[in-house]
Amino acid sequence: MAITAQRIILLVICLCGHHTAAQRTTLPCYQPGSCCWGAESSGVNADTVGLQRRLANLEARQAQVEARQAQLEVKQAENPVSCPEPEIPCEWKLVFKIVSNVNERSHPLWSAADTPSDMPGDPEVAGQGHYRSRDVDVWETLNVTQVKVSLYTFSPNMETRDIIFNGTGSDKNSWFSKDRLVSSPWTDLKTATTDFFSIDGDWHYAMYGSTTRIFDRRFHIALTNNCASERGWLTVLDQNSNFCTWERSEDGRYPRIVYSKLPGSVDYSQDSANVGMADVMAIFIKTCDN
Ligand SMILES: *[C@@H]1O[C@H](CO)[C@@H](O)[C@H](O)[C@H]1NC(C)=O
Ligand SMILES: *[C@@H]1O[C@H](CO)[C@@H](O)[C@H](O)[C@H]1NC(C)=O
Repeated sequence: MAITAQRIILLVICLCGHHTAAQRTTLPCYQPGSCCWGAESSGVNADTVGLQRRLANLEARQAQVEARQAQLEVKQAENPVSCPEPEIPCEWKLVFKIVSNVNERSHPLWSAADTPSDMPGDPEVAGQGHYRSRDVDVWETLNVTQVKVSLYTFSPNMETRDIIFNGTGSDKNSWFSKDRLVSSPWTDLKTATTDFFSIDGDWHYAMYGSTTRIFDRRFHIALTNNCASERGWLTVLDQNSNFCTWERSEDGRYPRIVYSKLPGSVDYSQDSANVGMADVMAIFIKTCDN
């Protein structure tokens, strides 16, 4: 960011003017706590320093300002939220991430009241473990406008499927609903009579003799609930779900993020070729309009 002619003129006005403290605060260049000028205007004693000398100092001061702006640009790049600029577009921010097959449940992390002290640790979408941002703790105060669930499959080809929800007035669980659905890869979802459409989903333990059968389906968007013909769009199998034959895995690893690769719901039990397995499911929010 180069210093502009306009800024130099403003700076000269600030330096040269004989102003009371109250007048100074109304000057365009006097912005206490502002991102780009900081406390630059304070300490200028217009009453005791001669005009010539102040003009001579201007060049040195300009160099200081440029150095400071360079520092600020580095800081802004590291932490854009602390110093938003009007021209920054309304961007998605990662707040939660589920990684498949890491043998750690995702739903307890989502539903916890607070983000554990060792989080956030791994905000990269392709990183090793689950991730939860502290934004989830204070969802209701963020004025969330949109929420995006992205399903990533890394191989054989990188594929992404996005489900977008209207986040206006939502809390950390209510945004995930059919009423709030804005768009999805599935043409039939908005008008379908869903059996489940919720983050908490459906979970159940049952004993068969000495065998425990588990299902634990979160971020669950389902049409039917029937092992023999189980249709749905998206489910996170959050433990070693083994209730229905279709959900048993060979290696017992979890979570598994299953979804329909069809333009509509898929029959998990009858049409395994069209059941996708995502490597990562990420949740992003926007807190601005566009
Ligand atoms: C959210 O909106 C309210 C009401 O308009 C406002 O007071 C508050 O500052 C906003 N919060 C954020 C984080 O922008
Ligand atoms: C989101 O929901 C709010 C509140 O119901 C509504 O005013 C707004 O128009 C909706 N936005 C979109 C993009 O559907």
